[in-house]
Amino acid sequence: MADPPPAEHDLPPVLISEEAIVQRVAELAGQISSDYAQAGEIVLVGVLKGAFIFLADLARRLTIERRVEFIALSSYPSGARSGAVRLLMDMRCDIRGRHVLVVEDIVDTGSTLRYLLDMLGAREPASLRCCALVRKKERLRSEVEIRYLGFDIPDRWVVGYGLDYRERYRTLPYIGIMDTSEEDGPQDG
Ligand code: IMP
Repeated sequence: MADPPPAEHDLPPVLISEEAIVQRVAELAGQISSDYAQAGEIVLVGVLKGAFIFLADLARRLTIERRVEFIALSSYPSGARSGAVRLLMDMRCDIRGRHVLVVEDIVDTGSTLRYLLDMLGAREPASLRCCALVRKKERLRSEVEIRYLGFDIPDRWVVGYGLDYRERYRTLPYIGIMDTSEEDGPQDG
């Protein structure tokens, strides 16, 4: 049985409001649509599970030809912030010669994104860029370029708009701060 939805008093405090997210997603979609106007088609690669809501909203606001694919990665396998990343599910589409835009929910240390960009880059796409909704700038350790970024956020565990804490809070319409002193996060994105 799934957990019941959180009670009103149990809701995490707002860090980024629903209105701010809607506005920023529209801005990002506008920028991406204009940058790729001549590209023909782009392949959006969403990183499960966290990016499913962001990708759905972003993809529907684009005005260019797009194809939607998903990939699943696992980080923090031992329950600690180890930085190890593993491929759980690949996409079916052959991206060689195509324009690929990775859509990430959150970039923390950057290890997941670095792994993904290296893996996809080896498949020789025509171009490879990343769009991330939020980034914890002070925690970033890997060299990764985020071409399209929603928001920089402080080093706190955040939930909502696809992001979870132990599989809870993913469907909150805003991004909230989770009050936890525990060091481990969810097993799979
Ligand atoms: P990175 O490899 O350290 O950049 O971690 C990226 C992954 O860690 C994300 O795709 C999320 O699954 C998870 N993660 C890191 N910080 C948070 C957070 O504050 N809330 C929810 N998930 C997070």
